[in-house]
Amino acid sequence: MKIMVVGGGGREHAVIRKLKENKLVTDIFALPGNGGIAMDATPVAISATDIPAIVDFAVKNGVEYAVVTPDDPLVLGTVDALEGAGIPCFGPRANAAIIEGSKAFSKRLMKKYGIPTADYEIFDNAQKALNYVATAKLPVVVKADGLALGKGVVIANTREEAFEAVRSAMEDKKFGKSGETVVIEEFLTGPEVSVLSFTDGKCVVPMVSSMDHKRALDGDKGLNTGGMGTIAPNPFYTPEVAKECMEKIFKPTVEAMNAEGRPFKGCLYFGLMITPDGPKVIEYNCRFGDPETQVVLPLLESDLFDVMRAVTEGRLAETEVKFSDGAAACVVMCSKGYPLKYEKGFRIDIPEDLIGKVFVAGAKLEDGALVTSGGRVLGVTETADDLETALRLAYEDADRISFENAFMRRDIGQKALEKIRAH
Ligand code: AMP
Ligand code: GLY
Repeated sequence: MKIMVVGGGGREHAVIRKLKENKLVTDIFALPGNGGIAMDATPVAISATDIPAIVDFAVKNGVEYAVVTPDDPLVLGTVDALEGAGIPCFGPRANAAIIEGSKAFSKRLMKKYGIPTADYEIFDNAQKALNYVATAKLPVVVKADGLALGKGVVIANTREEAFEAVRSAMEDKKFGKSGETVVIEEFLTGPEVSVLSFTDGKCVVPMVSSMDHKRALDGDKGLNTGGMGTIAPNPFYTPEVAKECMEKIFKPTVEAMNAEGRPFKGCLYFGLMITPDGPKVIEYNCRFGDPETQVVLPLLESDLFDVMRAVTEGRLAETEVKFSDGAAACVVMCSKGYPLKYEKGFRIDIPEDLIGKVFVAGAKLEDGALVTSGGRVLGVTETADDLETALRLAYEDADRISFENAFMRRDIGQKALEKIRAH
């Protein structure tokens, strides 16, 4: 079968590697893919948001199944367009992808259906938002409504920071249209857990839990990034928490989307905080997380392509989705300076025996050699019986991969290890 994956980061590389395990899959096209993905799929120079070109390519090349993984193509309706051309897809339609595309939508959904989340107010008038933060309890969280490349959230510790966050989103239009509406919400505390799930709109099957490390520097210091490393499973996600999440969050969310006439099919990502009052939703994503996917899929023992097609065809309840009992760790290697300014174009050396453990995010091929082309360059994932071993192996691997100006956090998984040891 000829299949296509829309996207071109480390997450897509992990998805592609897993899809390749299915014997029916003969060809995988990656739109646009990247220099590292080229080892596992055929890159096609079409942007992930150029919907007419994506559909045209799929039709002309006899693509039989499409997997759409990044947020913006999903929110823009890539799945709707491909399905319109008769191509079955993994991923939600635009009317369901709005669960990530608009924070105002998702907050209203949670309030209406009693799904636990931080208290909030929504504003489309800057003066009213400023008046509100003038007396709000600090810290206060200011969020741009729409997609903002993960940069639309400000945790304001002072009144001045809160005013600045509102002004830059609503008056200076720092995030364009995405910030014309803002959600201002209560600051929650507690460990964060990412739970990706498969859902066909009828049942919801959580994948192994994971933990991202979003800040650029050790000790959770520095700027927010796309993610500097992940571990799975997340030790804060105990069986009791999992049960509570299933009853109070996962099932109610899938049912709420159905009740709204927006059935969600694909990977629904729950960004959770385990607060002193129980688990609450920090955010929904309409897709696999990056770099959560790089630890979750290597632990999936079932066939990903089979599971994806079961989701598409509404057969998830009859399909086995099994994860290993082991642990996984992914360490992300970046270009020094990320998430701000960084240099690129440096040659990447990956020892032959590590190729299968590396998921490439920001690299391209130049005269046959892999060179850096992005802030997050690659992630290296190891699986083992326990987290400590997986982490040690992942760092040993990362230390054998080199490119100029390489940078990584040295404390991925430490909080999780402390939690495990405290048990
Ligand atoms: P989001 O893009 O909504 O996931 O927010 C990015 C990050 O900001 C989250 O991973 C949390 O660490 C933090 N965050 C978001 N909302 C809150 C909140 N209400 N209270 C505390 N931290 C938050
Ligand atoms: N790692 C967080 C995300 O994918 O949004």
